[in-house]
Parts: sequence; structure tokens; C-alpha cells
Amino acid sequence: MSFPGEFPPRMWIPGPTYVRPEILAALARPTVGHRTTIMTELVKSIAPRLQRLFRTKQHSLTITASGSAAWEGAVRCGVVKRWACITNGSFSEGWARTGESSGRDTVKIAFEWGEGLDPQRIEEQLRRAGPVEAVGFVSNETSTGAYSDVPAICAAVRRAQPDALLFVDAVSTLAGAPFEFDEWDIDVALASSQKCLALPPGIAVVALSDRFLDKARTVAGRGYYLDFVHLADDWDRLHQTPTTPAVNMFYALDEQLAAMEREGYEARFARHRAMRDRVDAWANGHGFPCFVAEKYRSPTTANRATKGFDIATFLARMIARGHELSNGYGKLKGHAFRIGHFGDHSMAELDHMLAIADEVLHGMGR
Ligand SMILES: Cc1ncc(COP(=O)(O)O)c(C=O)c1O
Repeated sequence: MSFPGEFPPRMWIPGPTYVRPEILAALARPTVGHRTTIMTELVKSIAPRLQRLFRTKQHSLTITASGSAAWEGAVRCGVVKRWACITNGSFSEGWARTGESSGRDTVKIAFEWGEGLDPQRIEEQLRRAGPVEAVGFVSNETSTGAYSDVPAICAAVRRAQPDALLFVDAVSTLAGAPFEFDEWDIDVALASSQKCLALPPGIAVVALSDRFLDKARTVAGRGYYLDFVHLADDWDRLHQTPTTPAVNMFYALDEQLAAMEREGYEARFARHRAMRDRVDAWANGHGFPCFVAEKYRSPTTANRATKGFDIATFLARMIARGHELSNGYGKLKGHAFRIGHFGDHSMAELDHMLAIADEVLHGMGR
């Protein structure tokens, strides 16, 4: 395998992100059978920590699949006929497509790419939409860097559709920004391991409300692998998973949840905000404007617009110097670049990377 710079590069892409050596070491522990007491003890250790991460006294669990699978499980278990999906970028559009391709009537409340979600507009449109069984949205559109006011949107949804289930994709914010599953009255929240949890890709974490599971028990055709009723029953009662999970990822998750509690979630969120401010100051100083309006700036993922700037050369020179940043996503490729400043990166490492970026930009005459 050949690689254009130091291998491995330090990953500042918006997922997967840098994984600490201690986590890699946890992954290397001996694989055990998933019906062993070691495994049930591991699930017993993970379960309350996951509840503290989501801030819920209800259900939370892990699935061996990436975050998109949890989108699908939420829709298939929680919606029989009709739901609404709020879109403002590639990932939320992907969730809407998941609903459509699962045969559910999907009402789209569409915002432009780069717009943050406006609670008032959502409330008005949801009132006009007629009854929906659920409403889903993405807290941080990783494709554009738009971070929305999650509690305000949850409240708007509740006012407009008091009986609807509320689904929140927290893929690129959970463990990087405050999240209050119970207080914000959410029914399904989900995140992938490779983002702010700073684990390798491969599992997703999910929180589920009692209300969601009560509804799901009445839904026929939930499928097998992503049947959240089966998953939650086995997790809560047996401390097991219905199918063979990514056993070694459970070691890593347990290790990381413990480490995050040692760091303290408030401190972790403050570190993310500080990294966001540092990247903002650096990018503004170089004349790369934020792609989204100031009030929607993401605490975890920067998306910086460029004009007449050779992003591909910049990224290639950065990776040759040992740091991997990301091009714009989808239709923004070539028009913006992204920095994922989340997970276990430190301010010192961020400063180091930005100093290298300064040199690279200087070399490009910028
Ligand atoms: C906001 C958001 N939702 C969903 C996904 C899909 O997650 P996964 O690739 O883990 O399925 C991503 C991936 O980047 C994302 O950023």
C-alpha cells in the first residue's frame, strides 16, 4: 500500500476520526463468545454509561451497524404509513430517502443546503402537513456544517404534532455537544461510533423512549436485524444482543465511555467549543468564510467556503504533511472544505495542524 505522506495521517475529516492508541489496544483484547458472562458483564457496564451519555433513564443500546442502519430501524419500527423528515443537506435527505424506500409516505420539510433549521417554519409546515406518526431531523448536517437548535426544534415539533414520535440524528454531535434525550422529549436518537465518540466505525448507539417501543410493539413487519423491540428486550433483560455483535468494539466503547466520564461531559463539550472557535479564527484570518450563518456554526464540524482556491492541492499538501482534511461534501466538493474538530483531538494538536496549514497556504501564495 502506498500513501502520499506519513501513515497513518492524523484524521481531521468529519468521520471517521482519530482513534487513541488506548482504544486501539482495547480492540486488541481477546475476542470472546457473545453469550459468555464476560460479554454480559460488558453490556452491564456499557448500559448505564450510554444512558448517561444520552441523558436518559429510558432505553439505550448498541447495534452492530453504522448510523444509517439506525435511521432505517427508527422508520421501520416507528412508522406504519406516514412521517415527516426535515431536510437541509445530504444526510437528512438520505434519511428521507430511507423512509421513501421503506414504502413510508414521507412528507419533506425542505430547507436549502447550508440553512440551519428554523423552528417557526417547521412548526407552521407541520401544522399544515396533517397527522404524521413521526418527525425526524438531523442535529448537525455534516455535509454543510449547519448545527441546529435541537431543543427549540423538538419543542416546535411537539407543539405542531403532539402525538408524533420525535427522531433525532445526533451522529456528528453526540459526545461533542450537549444532548438531553429525556428533557427534550425525544423518542429515538442515534449516533455512529466514528464521530465524536472517537471509536473506529462499525457500531451505532441508540436511545429509545418507552413511547417509541410501545408503538413499535404494534407495528407489523419490523424486520429482524433492526427490530428495536427485540434489540431493546434482549439488551434490557438479558444484557445481550440478538445476533453476534462486534465484540471487540464493545471493549472499545466501554473504555471510551469510561474515559469520557473521567474527562467530564461539560469539559468535553467546552473543549469542542474551544476547538470550533480556534478553527473559526484561523479560517476567518485566511478569508475562508463559514458556509453557514454564524448562529448555525457547528461545534464539531467546520465547513469553509472557498472561491478561486485549489482545494485539491491544499488537501494533497496537507496529507503529505501528515494531516487529512476533507473536501466539500456532494455538490459542495470543490467549493468548500471541511475540518472535523471532534472526538479526542486536543487544542495542542489542533494548533499544530493549523500551523502546518498556515505553511501550506503560504506555499500556495495565500
Ligand atoms: C449527520 C449524519 N447522519 C448520518 C450519517 C451516516 O452515518 P453512517 O455513515 O455511520 O451510516 C452521517 C455520516 O457521516 C452523518 O454525518
